[in-house]
Amino acid sequence: MVGMKIGILTSGGDCPGLNAVIRGAVLKGIQNHDIEFVGFRDGWKGVVEGTVMPLGRPQVMGISKQGGTILGTSRTNPFDFGGTERVAEVMDAEGVDALITIGGEGTLAAAKRLTDAGIRIVGVPKTVDNDLSATDYTFGFDTAVQIATESMDRLRTTGDSHGRCMIAEVMGRHVGWIALHSGMAAGAHAILIPERKTSMDEICGWIDSARSRGRAPLIAVAEGFKLDTMDDAHSERGLDAFGRPRLGGIGDMLAPDIEYRTGMETRSTTLGHIQRGGVPTAYDRVLATRYGMAVVDSVLEAHWGRMVALRGTQIVNVPFEDALGKLNTVPQDRYDEAAILFG
Ligand code: F6P
Repeated sequence: MVGMKIGILTSGGDCPGLNAVIRGAVLKGIQNHDIEFVGFRDGWKGVVEGTVMPLGRPQVMGISKQGGTILGTSRTNPFDFGGTERVAEVMDAEGVDALITIGGEGTLAAAKRLTDAGIRIVGVPKTVDNDLSATDYTFGFDTAVQIATESMDRLRTTGDSHGRCMIAEVMGRHVGWIALHSGMAAGAHAILIPERKTSMDEICGWIDSARSRGRAPLIAVAEGFKLDTMDDAHSERGLDAFGRPRLGGIGDMLAPDIEYRTGMETRSTTLGHIQRGGVPTAYDRVLATRYGMAVVDSVLEAHWGRMVALRGTQIVNVPFEDALGKLNTVPQDRYDEAAILFG
């Protein structure tokens, strides 16, 4: 549509592939539809503060292989800073007709509230955790799995040299997808995920079994994992801006107990933000680019309150609420399949 101006923002935790989405959207929008783009800086923070940057061909040149986001991001909740009224005011002042929000669960929840109040927003799902329903995969997940797998391969060689039990703690919030895939790829002797509470006895049984065959056990644990004695995931760093507990540290918590019970020297490594940094894999670049191009169509077709999603190999679009209703958790059969190789 000639004369149309779209604002793009990236919000929430960063994720490899964000830049490829931005590039895909901007190139298609300019080339096919003569759309003008503007980037809001640092997620919703830039929207409520009215901080923008130009977004044309020069800004998106060669960025699909760059990690992070050229727009910056934050975990700002727009409803803490004026909400709908403020967002509408800034869009008006900037002459922006619609917003493309690239974000995860927190971002899309805010986007849904704003859309319900009349703001024109379409979304692109983003998360390394792969925890959003209504899409088969999110970009960034493949990269995180690749990094976690490589890291576990490295932990194995040092574990083998010392005859130690090695624990690799990965991200994923309340789902175990990164742990499941990277643990399986790296041949972990146990994969501990939030969807399956597990006892210390069971974990130590797998460790003993691996050790009895002369192996140095490798345990992949998701940050949201709970022992059968725990009600909530391990969290020691308070809540984020959307009121969700900051996870991390379960590996360090398990290690001394495992060492005590098995008598095997045990070390834990928390991979942390390494999993979100650096260049996206080719798979993530392609998925992100396709999302970027497809979301331009969503704007042109006025699909407000909807986000692009992957179904099989097709890009479709679905209402925000389909993604937000419930978490995309690891199903039992995927866990059972992986568990055949434990111990
Ligand atoms: O949602 C992505 C994620 O990386 C989670 O896996 C993790 O729990 C969280 O974000 C970390 O958040 P922050 O970057 O704010 O520490």
